[in-house]
Amino acid sequence: MRTENNNMKLPPVWIYKIVVAIRNRLRKMYYAFVPANVAVFEMAQHFWVSKSLGVVCELDIAEIIGSGTKHIDEIAKESSVDPASLYRLLRALASEGVFKEVQDHVFSNTKKSASLIPGEGSMKYMIQHQLNTDNWAVVNELKYSVTTGKSAVQKLFGEGIFEHIGKDPEKNALYNKAMINTSDLTGQAILGAYNFSGIRHLVDVGGGKGKLIASIIAKYPQMEATLLDLPHVVADAEKLFEEFGVAKRVKVEAGSFFDIMPNGGDAYIMKNILHNFDDESSVELMKRIRKHIHTDGRLLIAEMVIPEGNTPFYGKMFDLQMLLGTDGSKERTRKEFADIFSQAGFKLTRVVDLVSPFSIIEGHPV
Ligand SMILES: C[S@@+](CC[C@H](N)C(=O)[O-])C[C@H]1O[C@@H](n2cnc3c(N)ncnc32)[C@H](O)[C@@H]1O
Repeated sequence: MRTENNNMKLPPVWIYKIVVAIRNRLRKMYYAFVPANVAVFEMAQHFWVSKSLGVVCELDIAEIIGSGTKHIDEIAKESSVDPASLYRLLRALASEGVFKEVQDHVFSNTKKSASLIPGEGSMKYMIQHQLNTDNWAVVNELKYSVTTGKSAVQKLFGEGIFEHIGKDPEKNALYNKAMINTSDLTGQAILGAYNFSGIRHLVDVGGGKGKLIASIIAKYPQMEATLLDLPHVVADAEKLFEEFGVAKRVKVEAGSFFDIMPNGGDAYIMKNILHNFDDESSVELMKRIRKHIHTDGRLLIAEMVIPEGNTPFYGKMFDLQMLLGTDGSKERTRKEFADIFSQAGFKLTRVVDLVSPFSIIEGHPV
C-alpha cells in the first residue's frame, strides 16, 4: 500500500517564514546594489531558466543521468540530441544549481534536477505543461490580456482551457499528471499544518485524480470522502484510491460542479479551483456548496493569498497565468476571499499558512 513520501520532510511554518523573509531581504539588497539597468536586464533573462527547464524535462535528461554521473556524449546519445548544444543547455542550468558539472563535460543530478525525475515530489509534468505545450503560446499573449482584460486561452483556442484539454487525450494526461505534481507540492504542507480531525465526510470539489483526498483520508482512518471532477479526469481515479488502500471510503462523482454537488459533507475542500474563475462564478460555486454543507460544516479553500503592497510573493507572478486563463480568473487577497465568502453565505474565519506559498482559507456557513 502506498503512503506519502517521508523524504519530503518539511520544516515548521515559522522557520519557513523567516527563511523566506531573509531571502527577500537579500534579493532586495542585491538589486539595490547593482546598477538598475543591470538589475532589470538580469531579471529579464529569467525566462531562459524557465524554458531550459521545460526542455530538459521534455528530453528526460534528469532520468537519463539518474543517480550516477554521465558524460555529455552519452546523455546526448540517449536523448537523441546534439552533444555540443546539450552541453550548453546543461552548463546554463548547472549555473542555477540544476545539474552539476562534476568533471569536464560530465554531469550528475543535484537535489533540484532530481526533482525533475517522475515520482513522488517531482515537478516534471507541471513544468512541461507550463513551458512546452499550449501554455507557451498562451504566455506569448500576455500583452493581449493586459490590453483587453480578456482571456488569451479563449483568443487562441476559442474555448476554455478545461474544454480544450479534455478533447485531447495526450494533453489531458499531461495536465492530470501536472496536477498530481502540484498536489505533491502542497499535499504534505496541507497535511502538516491543517488539522482535519472531526471531519466525518470530506468532499473534494474539482479534486483532479484524487491525490490530495487520498492522502488526507489515509491519515484520518475514520473519514469518508467524495471526489468530484469532470468525467475525463476521474475516469480511472479508483486505481489511486486502491493504491492508497482507501477505495472503500471514497465515492467518485463524475460531472461538472456547476451541475452536481455531493450532498451531506461536513467539509468541502477546493484546491486551486476558485482562482480559475471570476468572482461571479466563484460565488455561484460556493453557493452550491452552501446548499449541501452541514450547518456546522467547514469550507476549505487551498490557494495562495496575495499579500497587499510590494511584498515579494510567488503568487503575484502566478496570478499572471490566471490573467491569461479565463476572463476574470485571478489569485486573491484575504479581503477578496472574505468578500466572495460573504456573498456566498460563508464567513471567513481564519487563514492557515503552510510551508509553501499556499494557505488554507477556512470558512463556516452563516
Ligand atoms: C487547477 S486543477 C486543480 C486540481 C486539484 N484540485 C489539485 O489542486 O491538484 C482544476 C481542476 O478543476 C477541474 N474542473 C474544471 N472545471 C470543472 C467543472 N466544471 N466541474 C468539475 N471539475 C472541474 C479540472 O478538471 C481540474 O481537475
